[in-house]
Amino acid sequence: MNDKELVAYQAARLVEDGMLVGLGTGSTANYFIEELARRKSEEGLEVSTVSSSVISAIKAQSLGLPLVAMEHVSRLDLYVDGADEVTPDMTLLKGRGSDLVREKLLARAADRFIVLVDQSKLVSRIGEKFPIPIEVVPFAWQLAKRTLESLGGRGGLRQNASKDGLAVTSHGSLVLDMVFDSSIDSQALNGMLNATPGVVEHGIFQGLAAAVFVAQDGRVEERWNGK
Ligand code: 5RP
Repeated sequence: MNDKELVAYQAARLVEDGMLVGLGTGSTANYFIEELARRKSEEGLEVSTVSSSVISAIKAQSLGLPLVAMEHVSRLDLYVDGADEVTPDMTLLKGRGSDLVREKLLARAADRFIVLVDQSKLVSRIGEKFPIPIEVVPFAWQLAKRTLESLGGRGGLRQNASKDGLAVTSHGSLVLDMVFDSSIDSQALNGMLNATPGVVEHGIFQGLAAAVFVAQDGRVEERWNGK
């Protein structure tokens, strides 16, 4: 079992009969979806799921997990997803995929949001390894970019995978990938991005994680918030 499988397997043990569980997006979340499906078919686990992306919904459906549409959900028991960066105070950077809006909605609505990472995702500050993904209303991208530049940001619109057009999120937004000065802390940045007109959502997830499960060399460390 690799490190991503290991954390996914451990998180899947938190799921109990009758739970509504949010499914994340990415390679680590995929392992969680697979383990949940295995528990359903082999152990008879009774679980409903809500997906953070079309791709995870397709995977869950193909493995026989019951899916509920997000518009029918006002809360959920557990949301399990990966992250691109995690700081010591459990602030996250997410959004290398294109599903930030759904991911943050599920993270907020869940009684417990569990984050699955390997050691390589641990950083001392948000933005250490990746630019901050910022979803913007398409017609507002230049106005939003200018505001972000006035706050010290540098960057531009994300291109699609084949580099012949722009990346468009599942919400229909464009994405600005912006780098900010390391002297701006993530709390201040979070506030600034929340207050920028034209920004739909961004990749800083602050105060949302209940626990981060960190895998390293075949072992999992559970870091619970407040413990
Ligand atoms: C998608 C995400 C992913 O959870 C994040 O990119 C981690 O992916 P992986 O598990 O493949 O390393 O935030 O928007």
